[in-house]
Amino acid sequence: MNITILGPGAIGSLYAYKLHQAGHRVSVWGRSPQDTVVIELDGGSAIHFPNCDVTSLKASDLVIVTLKAWQVELALKPLLKHLNSDAILLFLHNGMGTVEHLATAINHHPVLLGTSTHGALRLSSSQVRHTGLGQTFIGPWNDKGSRCSFIADVLDHAFKPVAWNSEIQTALWSKLVINCAINPLTAINNCQNGGLAHKDYQQQIAMVVREATECANQVGVVLKAEEMLDTVYKVIHATAQNYSSMHQDIYNKRQSEIDYITGYVVSISKRYGIAVPTNLALYHQIKQIESSWNQHD
Ligand SMILES: NC(=O)c1ccc[n+]([C@@H]2O[C@H](COP(=O)([O-])OP(=O)(O)OC[C@H]3O[C@@H](n4cnc5c(N)ncnc54)[C@H](OP(=O)(O)O)[C@@H]3O)[C@@H](O)[C@H]2O)c1
Repeated sequence: MNITILGPGAIGSLYAYKLHQAGHRVSVWGRSPQDTVVIELDGGSAIHFPNCDVTSLKASDLVIVTLKAWQVELALKPLLKHLNSDAILLFLHNGMGTVEHLATAINHHPVLLGTSTHGALRLSSSQVRHTGLGQTFIGPWNDKGSRCSFIADVLDHAFKPVAWNSEIQTALWSKLVINCAINPLTAINNCQNGGLAHKDYQQQIAMVVREATECANQVGVVLKAEEMLDTVYKVIHATAQNYSSMHQDIYNKRQSEIDYITGYVVSISKRYGIAVPTNLALYHQIKQIESSWNQHD
């Protein structure tokens, strides 16, 4: 297939490399001004990818969006005019809400959403390390997308395991609830995920999960608060030594994905008139930290 990776950072480079190795014609669309982007995965041989090549973009059968959630709208909108209307769009980022913002602009494409538990780290502009084996689930956002389950097989062949999930909204909401519980708290309290096992956070985590689960239920996604709380603690223990992505972003003074994680829950709560005081407080705390950098810079 002709595949473009929009946002060849840590995760995007991983997919670009694996898809190239599987025999696909892969190009990337990044911020580098160079015509070519070089990627070396885990010390393997360097692969040269065409970068920001409109001809490759126009020929794309599949565009995989591996940007941070807050980068998606700005980066993707100007590219849409170049895409064939059959080009499949796959969004692979943390958080929710980006696709809703772009709905009218992309609904004529088959649109897929995905979630991945792989870990990747960029060591330099060309070197990427696959830091954690994981799995990827993809599924449809619109009717046209629901006819594209073959993409799961294509990706699985290149980068196992990838599975089709026709209830992808449930998988995304489930991940969102976990992220709402772990990400802001680890960022605010400057701790590893395991730090949240302390009883001091017990009540706050239970409230975050209950509020976020209620929002999921309102949009028709059936999640049970008790089961989600259990899952959150399993993740806290299983990833005890890890620093969450939001912890890393806040620690390094980079814009976090809070607007698409806790912020998404807050936006749904407003739409349906649900009280989410614990999530709202965490949302404002992260936003305040982010705005304090601008004031001092
Ligand atoms: N890394 C992981 O282990 C991991 C695991 C699971 C999920 N995720 C999720 O995957 C998503 C991507 O994460 P990541 O760690 O891969 O982030 P990342 O390394 O920052 O990758 C984002 C890439 O997009 C590029 N970019 C930004 N704005 C752009 C634009 N306007 N046009 C083209 N390219 C643009 C960035 O360029 P610059 O380098 O110039 O900023 C960067 O190369 C996030 O939602 C993250 O939460 C990551």
